[in-house]
Amino acid sequence: MATETEGHYILNRDATESTRLDEQHTLLTELAGGSPIHSRIAIDNIHAIADIATGTGVWLKHICTLLKDIPTDRPRYFHGFDISDSQFPREHAGIHFSVQDITKPFSDAHLNRYDLVHVRLLFCGLKKSEYEIAVANLMTLLKPGGFLQWDEIDYHALTQLNQENPRFFEIMKIVNDGLNSAQYSDSAPKLLKQTFKRKGLVKITSHDYVSSEQPRSAEIMQKWLHNALRMLIPWALETSEKEKGVDSTNQKSANEIIKEMGTIFAAKLVPRGEVSVVVGQKKGQTFCSIL
Ligand SMILES: C[S@@+](CC[C@H](N)C(=O)[O-])C[C@H]1O[C@@H](n2cnc3c(N)ncnc32)[C@H](O)[C@@H]1O
Repeated sequence: MATETEGHYILNRDATESTRLDEQHTLLTELAGGSPIHSRIAIDNIHAIADIATGTGVWLKHICTLLKDIPTDRPRYFHGFDISDSQFPREHAGIHFSVQDITKPFSDAHLNRYDLVHVRLLFCGLKKSEYEIAVANLMTLLKPGGFLQWDEIDYHALTQLNQENPRFFEIMKIVNDGLNSAQYSDSAPKLLKQTFKRKGLVKITSHDYVSSEQPRSAEIMQKWLHNALRMLIPWALETSEKEKGVDSTNQKSANEIIKEMGTIFAAKLVPRGEVSVVVGQKKGQTFCSIL
């Protein structure tokens, strides 16, 4: 769990979580149609790229590999930022990493520097009231015309199913209630769109990608959600105990609930994964053509 200087992040930062993030990258990239950069951004015009809340840097490493084969008239620059360095990779040739809280101003060296600023999955780290300052800080990093791409999960959408299963809904609601009572967003993509607009980004688009019910995809989604719930359920139970004075002796233990979810998945319930990719541009000269 996070220390005081590492914000109020809900998830872990251990080796198991680093592996989960790396596997999740493959899932999210597949879900979003195979490319980690949204199709409206012409990648051959992108030279300086920042990834905020980078975690293990898996997204940035993928981009670095992708761009290696694309000819360029100037050197490319890659920088990953995170409030904690616990998950930064040991080996990272060609990529810079720095500790940085998204809610605090970035140093002068990074201002107006980037063609693309990317963020993914911060709904477990940012309170609703912090999105505004976060987007404002990210905009300072962008060159005029530069892109901000933010990929987020709509937790609330995840609780919806194509089939009836009241217990699945009740378990998912434990986390949903925890997010709401601790002031995190259970619908981050919607909040992002509003915030992009309020802060003056232009040409804002948002695309929602939903997982299929193909057997392979179903199995991956089940594993992904189950692993995320292993961290989210204990946190949500603790939160409701603290914030609502719920008596823990009346609650099923986190382990029991997580086991129960395993049984629900074994009975072939397929969770519906949805990732939203929200893109906006900083006003000014457009040097990156829009496809
Ligand atoms: C779910 S992980 C996602 C990591 C990465 N973006 C990915 O998609 O693999 C969220 C990351 O946000 C970072 N984080 C949490 N609060 C933050 C903050 N205030 N500023 C910057 N990073 C933060 C965490 O340390 C963690 O690495």
